Order: sequence, then C-alpha cells, then structure tokens
Amino acid sequence: EKDGHDWFMRKEIYEQPRAVADSLIGRRGLGGLLQLDEMRLDDDEIRELDKIIIIACGTSFYAGMVAKYAIEHWTRTPVEVELASEFRYRDPIVDNSTLVVAISQSGETADTLQAIRHARSQRAKVLAICNTNGSSIPRESDAVIYTHAGPEIGVASTKGFLTQLVACYLLALYVAQVKGTRFGDEIDEIMNQLESMPEHIETVLEGAEAVYALAREHVGTRSVLFLGRHAGYPVALEGALKLKELAYLHAEGFAAGELKHGPIALVEEGLPVLCVVPPRGRDSLHGKMLSGIQEVRARGARTICLVEEGDTAIEPYADSLIRLPQVPVLLQPLVAIVPLQLFACELATALGHDVDQPRNLAKSVTVE
Ligand code: M6R
Repeated sequence: EKDGHDWFMRKEIYEQPRAVADSLIGRRGLGGLLQLDEMRLDDDEIRELDKIIIIACGTSFYAGMVAKYAIEHWTRTPVEVELASEFRYRDPIVDNSTLVVAISQSGETADTLQAIRHARSQRAKVLAICNTNGSSIPRESDAVIYTHAGPEIGVASTKGFLTQLVACYLLALYVAQVKGTRFGDEIDEIMNQLESMPEHIETVLEGAEAVYALAREHVGTRSVLFLGRHAGYPVALEGALKLKELAYLHAEGFAAGELKHGPIALVEEGLPVLCVVPPRGRDSLHGKMLSGIQEVRARGARTICLVEEGDTAIEPYADSLIRLPQVPVLLQPLVAIVPLQLFACELATALGHDVDQPRNLAKSVTVE
C-alpha cells in the first residue's frame, strides 16, 4: 500500500508528478478556452467580482498566499488571504461582489467551514478548492474545483499542496479569461508551462538522494530558518511548517526583505538557513535575495540555497546547493517545495519520529 516506501508521506511526495498532471487533465476546452467543469459560477458573476478573499488553514493557507500573487498578477483583481480561524472575528467587509475561496484538502476543517458559513451569511459567493468529494466544505459552497491528488494519508500535506496550487493557477487563468485581462495566447502559454511541471517535479525527485544526505547532516540541529521572496516566501513558510510538524524543530520562515527588520538577530554561527532563490529575471528580486544570503552568511549562517539551473551568482555564498529546473517565478513553488518536503521527511526519519502520525496532530481538524 506504500508502494515500497517507508512512509505514506514519502509515497505521496513521489506521486506529485502524477497528481499535478491529473489536476490539469481536461481543462482546455473547445477553441482552446479554459474550462473548469465543477465550477458553478456564471461569467457575469465573475465579471462583477471586485474582490477575492481566500480563507484556509496551515498548508492550504500557504497555497492561498501563492494564489494571491498569481490572481492579482493575471487578473488585476484584489486578493486578501486570511487564516480561516481569524476571518469572522474581524468583521470582514464582504458582500455579493466578493468571491470567497476556501482551500481545504480534507473539506472538513472546522475553522474553514465556519468561515464560509459566515461569508455566505454576508451574501458572498463561496468557491471551494478541495480534494475530498462530497465533504462538508464543497457541499456548503456555491461552486467547487476539485483537486485530483487522490487520498492523502500522511498527516503532513504534500501532494495536496501541489494540487491546490494547480487549482489556484487554473482559477486565476479562468478569471483572467472571463474578465479579459489576459488573452488566449498568453493563457495558452501559461497552460503549456503548467503542463511541463510534472516533468520538472520528476527532475527534482531524481535529486532526492543529495537532499536526504543533507537532511541527515542536520540531526543535531535545534533551529532552522527559511528565507524566500515573492512566491518563494510562502514556500519558505511551508518548508518551515513541514519541519515543525515532522522533526519537532524550531523552524521559521521569513520574507528575505524582512531580515534586517529583526530576524537577522537570530543568526549565529552554524545556524542552517534554507534560501529559496527566485529565478533570474528582469526585476531585482534575485539580486535582493543574493544580498540577503550574503548578510546571513557573513554572520556565520550555514546557507543551503535552492537555485535554478544555470544560476552561478549564488554559488560563492552557498554552503550547499539544491538545483531547481528553470521555471517562471509564479510557478516556482511547484518545484521549490519538493526538496523541502524531502528534507523534512528524511530528517524526521533520521530522528526516529513517526512521519505519518506526528505527535499531537490529526489529519483533519474538526474542532475550532
Ligand atoms: O484539510 P485542510 O486543507 O483544511 O487542512 C488544513 C491544515 O490543517 C493542514 O494543511 C495542516 O496544516 C497540515 N498538517 C499541514 O501539513
């Protein structure tokens, strides 16, 4: 049942190329137009949207953070991302031109369920992104996009996260198509890039042994920091969450630009810092990340850098390098999170922990 793997989690990490491919099947309709079958919002409702609020918990919340970058960039519609447990307590401004997107792998998370009930009571439309057919959250929503990860058994979400990202990209492109903020050719091009992601994820998985070796070197570590920027920032947060859940280590993710506003005080000799380096592009993101890496290293940090193939600028400042395939910045989370999942799984295994059933955690959290 674990296909020869020691843990369900490891099996699920290796299923990710298939899960991402399945989540993309059948999305291009006649005339190349994008279609989302299970989505029951009509085009007029989408055109009238003036705001999107994404609500979720844990890993699903980090998928929502990536979604914000993609939706705002492609659709020019303002997006807020909110922890489901906080949403209704802040008296959110929601009405019938707001789309609330609830992201939940299980579809049973109580905080998320209560949040969508509140949103609907305020006349907002609710769209669920969910991996579990017929669960409570899609049943209580106006529309749903199902992810096709298949059952996720490991308590730590892996393939659930990747397929949520795919669903968010599809939603963003669908809204862009309806609102006319992006045209056919451009949408086509992004779909082509998405369809090449399973292959890229496969490439990352081929490098697993090197990541495992690195993880085993960290058995004595007490604390690990993760840095990212742009879509790599939620990846840093998710990488840290995996390590907390599985290895019971102090792990924290930061936006690299925030370092100098406080977190850099944490850096001391030998502290491992995992850095998700954005692709080299026309903007200054890459250069800014490089200077963040130089700063922590100058203070004694041990830098482990996730860097795209061909990027040599980071090498002199990286104690270890993990290579990523070249992909656009918005899609980079699909490949960048994979080594961080492998790292957490292997380190927890080396520490003798139960990776599939971490202490104090449940697969679906049905209490508020
Ligand atoms: O089923 P959901 O996506 O609603 O679950 C949300 C969180 O409880 C979940 O992502 C949790 O953080 C995982 N254990 C993360 O690995």
